[in-house]
Amino acid sequence: MFLKNAWYVAAWGDEITRDLSQITVLGEKICVFRTQGGEIVGLEDACPHRKLPLSKGRIKGDTVECGYHGLTFDCAGHCVWSPGTGRIPSEARVHAYPMVERYGLVWIWMGNPALADPGDIFEIAQYGDPAWGINRGEAMELDCNYLLMCDNLLDPTHVAWVHEGSFGQSATRDTPLRVTKTDDGVIVHRWMMDVEPAPFYKKVIGFAGNCDRLQHYEVRYPSHALIRAVFTPAGTGGPDGPLHDDVFIMDSYNFLTPTDEGRTRYYWFQLRNIRPDDQALSQMMSEDVRKAFEEDRAVLHEVQRGMADKRSPHIDLPIDAGPLRFRRQLQAMINEEAEVDRQMAEG
Ligand code: FES
Ligand SMILES: [Fe+2]
Repeated sequence: MFLKNAWYVAAWGDEITRDLSQITVLGEKICVFRTQGGEIVGLEDACPHRKLPLSKGRIKGDTVECGYHGLTFDCAGHCVWSPGTGRIPSEARVHAYPMVERYGLVWIWMGNPALADPGDIFEIAQYGDPAWGINRGEAMELDCNYLLMCDNLLDPTHVAWVHEGSFGQSATRDTPLRVTKTDDGVIVHRWMMDVEPAPFYKKVIGFAGNCDRLQHYEVRYPSHALIRAVFTPAGTGGPDGPLHDDVFIMDSYNFLTPTDEGRTRYYWFQLRNIRPDDQALSQMMSEDVRKAFEEDRAVLHEVQRGMADKRSPHIDLPIDAGPLRFRRQLQAMINEEAEVDRQMAEG
């Protein structure tokens, strides 16, 4: 089950070109391409005649010609040419998905187009700010339901066991968590005071000695996460801490797009407040983060299989409070959307 009236990431901007291609989002196949003016178009990838995917056809200017009998569609999904008599059948149209390019990513609205508001796209205030460095990630394919990754991104404890050599340290095993429900998601966070920096951060922070460390794990509906890491010299952190000039902040953006119930496309990048133009640092961070996310991928693949094949009930732990709250609210939103659709169908 998916929330449909929401923006999801469809692709990196440079994955969509003048060539027709097919993507799958929430189980729906979509033909995507760029217009001559560079706009991104997404059309239901099934010709109304015999359902040949439009992505198997040809791009003609800013229209798509079906590769079987030539029905031709514009960017709004309207048929503009029909072979033979030239009379255009009134049912000859395909759904056109609202699409917006932002942060180097292409966003797609999967629900009622009348409700699509680009102002609702996940806001990243410091994106493009020259004071912040960026290391672009990639689109990883996860063999699991997207909610398992939402659980993971609301679970600061797993770094102690899954990412022992990078993000984990002993304090991440048992420092208590705080869970907050917001208007658009859930935040799980904690400060760890006067601790040694974890190995990944030790390489990049600009000060020596112990630190105060914040793990802020936030997932917003439907499935987009901000993981903020703050490292500041010991004694300068905490909820009321003044922070230090040497504070290191890394905001990790994680956007999950369900391909279907069992597969997820995972888009990510990080912004950092230090050495914004240091390309070697960006590359090193990308590689280390990619290795860590591969660790998540391996675990979640097995968890997906384990939960699907379980022979006894699974249990929940106190650390699941945040993920369970998120799941409950998301399910309520999905149910509400389904109820509205049902009422509209009944007229
Ligand atoms: S299948 Fe597309 S025109 Fe016939
Ligand atoms: Fe992880």
